Order: sequence, then structure tokens, then C-alpha cells
Amino acid sequence: MLLERSYEPDTLASLDALKSSWLLMKDESPESELVWLALTAILRSTSTAGTAGTAQWQYILPNKTKKRVAEPFFAFQQQIGIIKADLRWMQARASQSCANIIAGDARTFADMTSCNVDAVITSPPYANNYDYADALRFEMTFWGDINGWGDIHNAVRRHLIVSSSQHSSRERLVLDDLLVSEAVAPIRSELAKVVHELADVRESHGGKKHYHTMVAAYCRDISIVLQQLRRICKPVSRMCWVIGDSAPYGVYCPVERWIAELAIAAGFKHHRFEKLRDRNIKWKNRKHRVPLKEGLLWIEG
Ligand SMILES: C[S@@+](CC[C@H](N)C(=O)[O-])C[C@H]1O[C@@H](n2cnc3c(N)ncnc32)[C@H](O)[C@@H]1O
Repeated sequence: MLLERSYEPDTLASLDALKSSWLLMKDESPESELVWLALTAILRSTSTAGTAGTAQWQYILPNKTKKRVAEPFFAFQQQIGIIKADLRWMQARASQSCANIIAGDARTFADMTSCNVDAVITSPPYANNYDYADALRFEMTFWGDINGWGDIHNAVRRHLIVSSSQHSSRERLVLDDLLVSEAVAPIRSELAKVVHELADVRESHGGKKHYHTMVAAYCRDISIVLQQLRRICKPVSRMCWVIGDSAPYGVYCPVERWIAELAIAAGFKHHRFEKLRDRNIKWKNRKHRVPLKEGLLWIEG
């Protein structure tokens, strides 16, 4: 089982003790929620499982062990200390929070009817096969929210923008259905060329990954988000999207240009891309040699 393979027995016993205490004492107060957060935050630093991926915590690899592992009670105290210092720092500067957090799907913004948004700053998923659902598997297994791979799609992934081939394959998305969707109409001809090429190229790869449907569904979902944003943004508003292009199986997808074109079709007026860095230009760790970039996509109007 994932947890037994990822912890020393003593460590797991200490983590379980912390979890049991929390379950006994929790009362839905902000304090109790922060204690939950502190315990969740130490699950990776106390685990022997190695990690891989562009972000260090992207994949948990129980078969690759790491040597430096934090002791749970110590790590927990430290984490509580960090949270306490953050709270004190903020409380010394502001008497109350101005934030209003909506935990929801950006494709629906169901509760927002007024158009009073001045600015949008977002770091959306890239179309680069990062599986946000899998990144949560470890924590959700610890808390008993899921029992394994099978549960994760319904618990998390299906609520997210399609940005991984696991997602599009699990939903058995059909390319032709995606391409006829109204949402992709503004970029349909170029998108169709790219995803048909991906459909061909996958036949020569062992994994036969569903990048073709992932890229089409990604564009559909982003377009829906842009239409929702147009609905709730003021007529003169500004958006900043941190975004990068991608090249699954080496097939280039001009994602930032597609997003800009979808934004204009949704009713925004201007766009400008400000490159921050090049990607995939070093020789190490490359699956293909297509130069990529990431930066800020400014959209206005
Ligand atoms: C590149 S990450 C940005 C993370 C963020 N900057 C942060 O620090 O937490 C993309 C985020 O988009 C979220 N996401 C994916 N689909 C979404 C959706 N339909 N609605 C709202 N958020 C979504 C993912 O869960 C992920 O946290």
C-alpha cells in the first residue's frame, strides 16, 4: 500500500497518532483547520519516498527512497511555528482580510452574477501533462479521502481543466466531438491540424498517450473560462496569465497565442505576450528538441 511503502513504521505511527488526536479534537474552527493544514504539509518531508517531475513534489516514487527524512513531531512543531509567524506578520499589517475565497470551478463561476472584476491574475494549468489530481493522491490517501488511483478522478480530476492525458483518456474524450465544440471555433482550423498530427504521432509511441484529446479539451476548457471571465469582468479590465507553450510528443502547440485568440473572440480587446524565460533549451532531460517559452500574457479590454 502507498503509505506503508512511503514511510518508516515509526514515522507512520507518529503521523497516525497526530491524525487520531486531530480527529478527536477537531471542531471546524479556523485553528483546527490550520492544525489540519500543518499535518498535511509535513507528509512529504517526513516520507522516505523519492520524488520526480519538474516540480519536486510532482510524483511520489515509493521505490526511490530519499535519505534525509524529518521526524514527524519535530516537523509538525516547526510547521506550526511557520504558520504562527505568517499569521502574526499579516495581523500586524491588516485588521481583517479583504479576500473572499470561492472554492469553485473557473469554468462556471456559478455564484457570480455581477460584472465588477477589475483585474484577473492567474496561473492556470499548462497543457503539459501535469496531473494535478495525482499530486494530491498522497495527502488524500493519508486522510482516507480516497482508496487509490480509481477514486481520484471522481474526487478531484473531473473538476479540473483538462491538462493531462490521464484526464482525457479517463473521460474517453472523442476528438471529433471536441473539435465541433463552439468553444474552439475561433482556433478550430489550426487546432484541428495540430491534434490530428498528435493522433497520428501517438501510434508510433509505446505509451499511446491521449495528448490529441488532451490538447483539444484544454483549449475548449480555457475558452469556456475566458467566456466566463468576459461575463464577470468590467468593460475596462486587465488580466495577467502566467502561461507557457508546449510540445507533447514533439508536436508544437502555440498555447499562449491560442489563449490570446480565444480571449479576443470572447470579447476582450488587446493582448500582449511578455516572455520571461525559454524552456527546453538545455540538453539534459529532454524528450524532444522543440524550444519552448513561458511568460505573461496580458489581456485587456
Ligand atoms: C499552475 S497551478 C497554479 C497554482 C497556484 N498558483 C497556487 O499557487 O496554488 C494551476 C492550478 O489551477 C487549478 N485548476 C485546474 N482546473 C481548475 C478549474 N476548473 N477551476 C479552478 N481552478 C482550477 C489547479 O488545481 C492548480 O492548482
